[in-house]
Amino acid sequence: QTGYITLDPGFKNTGAAKSAITFLDGEKGILRYRGYAIEELASKSTFVEVAYLLIYGELPTGNELETFRMTVRRHTLIHEDMKKFFDGFPSKSHPMGLLSALVGALSAFYPESLNAHATEEEEDLTVIQLLAKMPTIVSWIYKKSLGHPLIYPSNDLDYVTNFLNMIFGQRTEQTEIDPVMVSAMNTLLILHADHEQNCSTSTVRIVGSSQANLFASISAGISALWGPLHGGANQAVIEMLEKIKNDGGDCDKWIAKAKDKNDPFRLMGFGHRVYKNFDPRAKIIKKACDEVLEKLGINDPVLEIAKKLENAALNDPYFIERKLYPNVDFYSGIIYRALGFPTDMFTVLFALGRLPGWIAQWREMRTNKEPIGRPRQVYVGAPERNYVDLAKR
Ligand code: SDX
Repeated sequence: QTGYITLDPGFKNTGAAKSAITFLDGEKGILRYRGYAIEELASKSTFVEVAYLLIYGELPTGNELETFRMTVRRHTLIHEDMKKFFDGFPSKSHPMGLLSALVGALSAFYPESLNAHATEEEEDLTVIQLLAKMPTIVSWIYKKSLGHPLIYPSNDLDYVTNFLNMIFGQRTEQTEIDPVMVSAMNTLLILHADHEQNCSTSTVRIVGSSQANLFASISAGISALWGPLHGGANQAVIEMLEKIKNDGGDCDKWIAKAKDKNDPFRLMGFGHRVYKNFDPRAKIIKKACDEVLEKLGINDPVLEIAKKLENAALNDPYFIERKLYPNVDFYSGIIYRALGFPTDMFTVLFALGRLPGWIAQWREMRTNKEPIGRPRQVYVGAPERNYVDLAKR
């Protein structure tokens, strides 16, 4: 080995980059986007405004926000030929597999995005196209899964209302979308918008560090987010809560399973690499759960199971010693379900929220002209040995 290699599996003690986008304090449970506290943004801002803040670094003026909104609205359509991709997938494909494939395929329709030395205008256009087309792609994935007709974007609607209209709309004309749903969706997307160097963001940065185009980098990030230890946890939480409910709601039994080292079962939605206290997003979502379900007149038994499970775990020495608290995924699925989304769409909604953060982090890596990501290793394989002819093996 040349030089001294420090082994750090999972990069638990490695800082991969200098970044000015998101600040986390895991001990104090602090999360800020470009210096603004998540609690303020979640209650006062909109997802489009937060996307602008993350990508361009400042809260927009009224004119800047209006120009940004109108520019995004001009690019919400996707090329009609993309429908052929949908027709090629089996009807029961997981939405995350479709999303990763379709976002990667966007580069085929926008070859100017492939230019590794794109001008600022070309790069800006690619950013706008991705932000604008993601809600259309996500809603078409959902409609195809139901075998329902696709709803086209309505550019007279705001970003989130347009998305919900394409998801829940039944015909071409607009469906009345409940403002409670629009507000809840804005909050959820804001809470998911960025989270410093998490697994999927690190993936976006390292793929982009080879000068691969933005669509390819985001497609790779979507694949990383799919895993149940990461964004896929929001689907796994609901499946776990359903299993506990159907098993009679015995939370102590499942807590014991989660503590048993011989049992692969983990309490999904619990624990975090950085937060060793509460996840501030989980606190906001838990509060929103009660409000949204009450406003929508929904009584979801898994919410009670979730609260019981949280309470039992927070008082259990195993979880206390390991500083395991509910994370962003623990309650988010309950709201997504209350809004009418099926479980296998939850991680796609996480990706829709994380898109501006991925874009901001990719641009920062490119602007800072960071070197191609290429870590070393500690070799523990066979020492040198000579080839043995087949006849002698
Ligand atoms: C997200 O990084 C981010 O910022 C991610 C994210 C984002 O916004 O991008 O916040 C989104 O991915 C949230 C996390 C969602 N994942 C889950 O809810 C899955 C369940 N959680 C775990 O798998 C785990 O807590 C992780 C993956 C979140 C963190 O894993 P770490 O930091 O590698 O910790 P670890 O697996 O080494 O666990 C430390 C100890 C172990 O016990 P010991 O070996 O010390 O005895 O805690 C135990 C683990 O067994 N443990 C759990 C547990 N999580 C950790 N035991 C039971 N249930 C759990 N959920």
